[in-house]
Amino acid sequence: MNNEERLTGVLQKLYEGSGYRRYKMSKFEEYDLYAGNKDLLASEGIITFTDTNGKLMALKPDVTLSIIRNTRDKRGQLNKVYYNESVYRISDSSKRYREIQQTGLECIGDVDDAAVLEVTSLAAKSLTAISGKGILSVSQPQIAADCLANAGVSGETLDEALKLIEEKNLHGLEALLKENGNGEEEIRKVLQLAGLSGTAEEVLASLRTLGVQERLTEQLSLIAEGFRQEGLSKMLRFDLSLSCGTRYYSGIVFKGYVNGIPSAVLSGGRYDALARRMGKKCSAIGFAVYMDLLERLNGAQEAADTEEAPENGYLRIALPKGRLGEKVYAMFEKAGFECPEAVSDSRKLVFTNEEKKVRYFWVKPSDVSVYVERGAADIGVCGKDILMEYAPDVYELMDLKTGICRMAVAAKKDFRDDPNRTLIVATKFGKIAADYYASVGRDIDVIHLNGSIELAPILGMSDVIVDIVETGTTLRENGLIEYETIAPISARLIANRSSYAFQKDRILKLAGGLKEQVNES
Ligand code: PRP
Repeated sequence: MNNEERLTGVLQKLYEGSGYRRYKMSKFEEYDLYAGNKDLLASEGIITFTDTNGKLMALKPDVTLSIIRNTRDKRGQLNKVYYNESVYRISDSSKRYREIQQTGLECIGDVDDAAVLEVTSLAAKSLTAISGKGILSVSQPQIAADCLANAGVSGETLDEALKLIEEKNLHGLEALLKENGNGEEEIRKVLQLAGLSGTAEEVLASLRTLGVQERLTEQLSLIAEGFRQEGLSKMLRFDLSLSCGTRYYSGIVFKGYVNGIPSAVLSGGRYDALARRMGKKCSAIGFAVYMDLLERLNGAQEAADTEEAPENGYLRIALPKGRLGEKVYAMFEKAGFECPEAVSDSRKLVFTNEEKKVRYFWVKPSDVSVYVERGAADIGVCGKDILMEYAPDVYELMDLKTGICRMAVAAKKDFRDDPNRTLIVATKFGKIAADYYASVGRDIDVIHLNGSIELAPILGMSDVIVDIVETGTTLRENGLIEYETIAPISARLIANRSSYAFQKDRILKLAGGLKEQVNES
């Protein structure tokens, strides 16, 4: 029996013990079920085929939608089901379709406080069954959304603000609110709320101080008290940034992390609005465990149990090789995370300071976010260009205000855009170019190059380039001029989401030390 099968058995027992019955479904569903709810799905792509009767069918990318649709809506009843099913989605990492094994449960009907507590504590107990070291992070996204609405933030700006909160990108949020015309006091309150995370007691106390309405905090209080009674408080955290940008949920949300796995292994929440959208009058709460992530748990667990244990393990830092990396290392050193050997003249790539429990890696600048997203490093520093281009699933904790340059469109001096022709763009940054030209409604063809981009328009291969401009020397020396600035770029401190859950205090201590230096400069 492999690890996944063993865990599936353990979880089934846990759920059956609380009165959940097995729900079994077909691998296929009618495509219509997803077509109307694409905004709710974890990945855009759906594998479809035409059935013998001509109906368009889909290999199911999601379990919850099917369960809600097939659940009878009877007043006063609670349907408690668990499942162990395959879903077919485009994987975030490989960008290809994958069969992903999901185990989870749904509680549908008259969901009351007892049901909320039962489901959240089963989520916590699932993490304990998976690994001794689990953290259940819980939030009520409505708190941040209401605060933004009270500050007059709406429409696309609201969506953008919620996304920034979910990325813990408070510097970006501050800039957005300033642009939106919000006053200092409003901005301060939003930033305070959006940045709240910690133990249940800490966060509830801050929410009271900030005067957040009780109707928004009551479910969090309920969970805090229930977990206390069940002796689960140690694994509970409240984090107001959680799932702010997701539309699936309409009440409390939660994510589960286990030490050694770089992303959430469990995700869930209350989804009454989704049930209503599907024509049901009931309310609902549930969660899924991503069994595929647990395949590697044994190896990861061994590492986690020994030297890389959370809190007292190493803080693993990926820095970009080169001048920027050296500058940033000096800032880290000043913040008390020194490892002098790291800047010695050597071909070594990994450097450890045993006393300070820090470990530095030097990596190719464009790879830093990969190391952090995959959890090989807890934190790292990379340019905003890389975050815009690859959209890694990491927190963007700080703008280090160094490595300052800009992403720009440049072309030959005599270039005149002819809107009747497809614009040919040479770049290393295909996504940034595509996003930018989509936003201005211009059809383009992208030529991907790996360097010396300036050559493309000189040799007539492209009309324009989208590239980084720092001093402007390269453009000048090659007879090109800057036409548009797409975005300002600078170095950002990024963190792995799971590492943040386990090593928050050290990461924030470091960020605090860096912030002092940024503010001084
Ligand atoms: C970057 C960028 C520009 C140049 C801009 O190139 O692609 O070519 O720096 O800097 P400037 O405005 O100060 O002249 P990089 O050095 O990374 O090499 P590359 O050509 O391999 O991309």
